[in-house]
Amino acid sequence: MRDFEANGLSGAEETKLQYEYIEKAKKYVSQKEKELGRKLTCYVKTFGCQMNARDSEKLLGILNEIGYVETEDEHADFVIYNTCTVRENANNKVYGRLGYLSNYKKKNPHMMIALCGCMMQEPEVVEKIRKSYRFVNLIFGTHNIYKFAELLCRSMESDSMIVDIWKDTDKIVEDLPVQRKYSFKSGVNIMFGCNNFCSYCIVPYVRGRERSREPKDIIREIESLVADGVCEVMLLGQNVNSYGKNLEHPVTFAELLREVNKIEGLKRIRFMTSHPKDLSDDLILAMKECDKVCKHMHLPLQSGSSRLLKIMNRHYDKEQYLALVKKLREAIPDIALTTDIIVGFPGETEEDFNETLDVVKQVQYDSAFTFIYSKRTGTPAAAMKNQVDPDEVKRHFDILLKEVQEISAKKAKELEGRVMEVLAEEQNIQDASLITGRLSNNSVVHFPGTPDMIGKFYMVRLTECRGFYYLGEIVEDA
Ligand code: 5AD
Ligand code: SF4
Repeated sequence: MRDFEANGLSGAEETKLQYEYIEKAKKYVSQKEKELGRKLTCYVKTFGCQMNARDSEKLLGILNEIGYVETEDEHADFVIYNTCTVRENANNKVYGRLGYLSNYKKKNPHMMIALCGCMMQEPEVVEKIRKSYRFVNLIFGTHNIYKFAELLCRSMESDSMIVDIWKDTDKIVEDLPVQRKYSFKSGVNIMFGCNNFCSYCIVPYVRGRERSREPKDIIREIESLVADGVCEVMLLGQNVNSYGKNLEHPVTFAELLREVNKIEGLKRIRFMTSHPKDLSDDLILAMKECDKVCKHMHLPLQSGSSRLLKIMNRHYDKEQYLALVKKLREAIPDIALTTDIIVGFPGETEEDFNETLDVVKQVQYDSAFTFIYSKRTGTPAAAMKNQVDPDEVKRHFDILLKEVQEISAKKAKELEGRVMEVLAEEQNIQDASLITGRLSNNSVVHFPGTPDMIGKFYMVRLTECRGFYYLGEIVEDA
């Protein structure tokens, strides 16, 4: 693993260099097309979070630019897995699918296979792939993803596996091609990396130190997205509340939100993820005052036990968390709150678990992602001696899941009958006569409609609540 890149280029020079590699790769692809008498196909599979989803759009942007045509599955000439390693089961899924891929490759000798993303930042993983999955052509990590075109060229020029992984980077490279999944909404990275080192979490080790993008670059990107038909953006960062602290001229996340809110033509602003320790009064006020900011806050709790929160290195306790929720609800009464909770962190007792349940009951989350603690090698929690008995963890997990589901269903029911603004997002997979859309609070609504409505807003009556989603009907155009 390399410590850092060595070429010493600025971000802008790097962009220029990568476009040169894109041109070179185009030639390789068109040569191959002539040989085969057909277009080359590609498939990008994303594991994990919204950050990875956005990275995959960048990979696809380059693949498109150089001439590949996207396919629906792994029967393709170029397959790339953008991996996640936040929990062990994410890793296992990748190994499982790699098994299949070797068979595909036997049938299609032109096939190229690449792996990237968080999992590749772990040396043991790369070792295992080098040894047991020798048919993989290219491995790179999270810090050099902007070099994809260059790495692709190197891989096309070589018969052996190319591996290029860096420990960290301080560079942010702007203006490379992107192929969006949705025409009307887009993720926008506002920062990369994480400095928090929660004791269970591998993210700071695989995504590196916190780096914020310049506000002007973010605004410029959103303006051009809007010009291209985007009406909703999701500002992305591991901890958006600490945005801008390390910039040459520091800017707060609240200030950034206010700037983004001014962009003409933009309709909805979402963001992910907020850390409770950095959630300022200023941000709450900005959310309240900015009409485009959606009434939704994802505020990971992780545990309701102050004792465990301390060992988790979260820098807040149960009371501070509850006080924050109170403040949010006072300022924005109809805000939807969602969260992440971990069950079975080392040393978790019945008492600790009951504290978590208590917070869940008090806050009444609109929805909650519940995770069984997964031991990640290299994190402080993995070395803790008091790992909890898996049966006990499962018992707690089931209790918690039942509780959060009951609360979500009850909360969703409260909106039944109301008329609310919905952004039409896609045709329903099961029933083509329905369109699936989202409310400002992020809830899903299915309502009769046609694909030409996608990307537009409608006033919809939520006629029936079905657990965590609604059936609805259009009342009038928004
Ligand atoms: N085990 C289980 N869940 C984890 N998360 C992060 N690390 C772990 C782990 N080791 C969860 C946290 C975080 C979410 C993205 O994943 O709840 O908020
Ligand atoms: Fe992991 Fe904590 Fe950083 Fe979130 S804030 S990515 S949980 S270390």
